[in-house]
Amino acid sequence: MASDRAPEASPPLSDADLDPAAIERFKDAAARTAAKLVRDGMRVGLGTGSTVAYLLTALGERAEELRGVRCVATSPATAAVARELGLTVDELDDVGELDIAIDGADQVDPDGWLVKGGGGAHTREKIVAASARRFVVIVSAEKEVARLGPPVPVEVLRFGVQRTLAALGDTRLRDACASPDGNLIADYAGPVEDPRTLAERLSGTPGVVEHGLFAPEMVSEILIAGAGGVRRRAGGKA
Ligand code: 5RP
Repeated sequence: MASDRAPEASPPLSDADLDPAAIERFKDAAARTAAKLVRDGMRVGLGTGSTVAYLLTALGERAEELRGVRCVATSPATAAVARELGLTVDELDDVGELDIAIDGADQVDPDGWLVKGGGGAHTREKIVAASARRFVVIVSAEKEVARLGPPVPVEVLRFGVQRTLAALGDTRLRDACASPDGNLIADYAGPVEDPRTLAERLSGTPGVVEHGLFAPEMVSEILIAGAGGVRRRAGGKA
């Protein structure tokens, strides 16, 4: 299914967008903008990664006010930090549908496709995103790309892993990296010509648990922070 949304060109990156210290401030700005969407009583999905770490800090600062919030974490690391900061973390199956999920991304293309899984948690992240009425992505500006490229993370079963990698082609196991559910994380390094076609091929390969391509229709909005401030892009999810 082709997207009927107009691709969104990103403003050109300046040197100020690429400065490593500034990138950390941009992640914080995107995360703090998203944190304002969280209100007491909500059921909230929490992603994984360094941008989400800023989100956890921002939510933790309001832990008293957010005592009625029930969080679902996409990784043990996120769950541990969230609890340390005074947030309530429950199991997804105990919480059910989420009001909002907030997560980072490794790449965002003009059509709103994402590559996720830099932290190897993309399977849980996809389940949590799909369980949320609103899925908000938070990124620093250098994550916007003109077209998606490798690597695309892939979670694979340990059983027959060499056969799975051979079927995928151009795919390598990430050193000493297991998913939160004990499967292996590999990176597909081949071309990403059409993300939907590749997503279907990866999903259709026996042994693949989940890949890190997130379709635009999973995403409600993308908050992109750069030297020019925080910009909001609509996603393809109503
Ligand atoms: C983890 C993810 C992360 O959201 C993604 O890798 C971005 O991470 P960071 O915010 O550290 O740049 O998908 O599996």
